[in-house]
Amino acid sequence: MVGLSHSALRTLTLEEGGVGLLFTEMLAARKLPEESSNSPFLMRSECEFPLFYQLFLTDTEVIGPAIDRLQRLNAQGIDLNLGCPAPQLRRLGAGVFLTNDPDRVRQLVATLRKSTSLPVSAKIRLGESPDKEKLVDFCRMLEGEGVDLLTVHARMNSEKFCRKPRWDWIAPIKSALGIPVIANGGIFSVADALNCLQLSGADGLMLGRAAACHPWLFADIAREVYGYAEPGSGRDRQKVYFRFTELLQKRFAPERRLGRLKQFTHYYAENFQFGHHLAIGVQKSNTLNMALERAAEFFQQLNS
Ligand SMILES: Cc1cc2nc3c(=O)[nH]c(=O)nc-3n(C[C@H](O)[C@H](O)[C@H](O)COP(=O)(O)O)c2cc1C
Repeated sequence: MVGLSHSALRTLTLEEGGVGLLFTEMLAARKLPEESSNSPFLMRSECEFPLFYQLFLTDTEVIGPAIDRLQRLNAQGIDLNLGCPAPQLRRLGAGVFLTNDPDRVRQLVATLRKSTSLPVSAKIRLGESPDKEKLVDFCRMLEGEGVDLLTVHARMNSEKFCRKPRWDWIAPIKSALGIPVIANGGIFSVADALNCLQLSGADGLMLGRAAACHPWLFADIAREVYGYAEPGSGRDRQKVYFRFTELLQKRFAPERRLGRLKQFTHYYAENFQFGHHLAIGVQKSNTLNMALERAAEFFQQLNS
């Protein structure tokens, strides 16, 4: 997720436990060859493994140089974004807008497949209109062109995140394909995870916003749904928050930290009854130190 699933949050979720596979935020394939490995987008620590790098692109000619770069960065896999409806991607015709042109998607996936022996995955939404047959055909095409793993965000292309996800729409995809299918969208609790698995029959779950709201949820799901002996970190919510701020400071240059703390806090604040005080305090801070002081005050009041 843009501005969220960076090195600091990935490390935090790994420390909390239960994570099987990590993804970067979407990266412009065209810009990758020039991007410094210390940039906030490519910054990565050794513990972040296995890590798939997600690309958005529209043209086959950018694929070779982008893959070269990712292989040098020790990518464990390459993920193609076919699900993002952001205006920035609309202008480019990338992300979910690419799926209006299945032949182009076919070409892109085929080129990706020929360019690397790394696993290739794709992330999709459910389509422009409610047409399960078309959706399943599209997914079959992706598998046929060599996609090894498919993540399905269970919402139609233009549906907002507040809309209830259609987890049951993943079931026909799962039945039709031989590759692993991962369900995504609206999983914020163990109960959601169980419900989603029951309706979708998916092989795994991807947590998006919940990674920032409840970084421990991966461990809860690993333990309570999959039966792993996953102890978690044992940190309370305040410690998790401040651990994240430490990781931000370890991973990012000073000018990159505050924006990312604001974005994370927007989600993390949901854990607290008066969390908006935390969110607003951090949001209105001009420096990281000011944000940290305000967060400390919030937790002091919470504990008093
Ligand atoms: C701030 C933000 C940034 C996102 N950026 C990406 C992205 O870069 N690539 C992507 O595939 N999905 C992106 N998404 C979508 C999420 O990956 C996910 O599909 C969506 O939030 C639904 O899952 P959730 O309910 O678990 O959050 C983003 C979502 C949010 C809220």
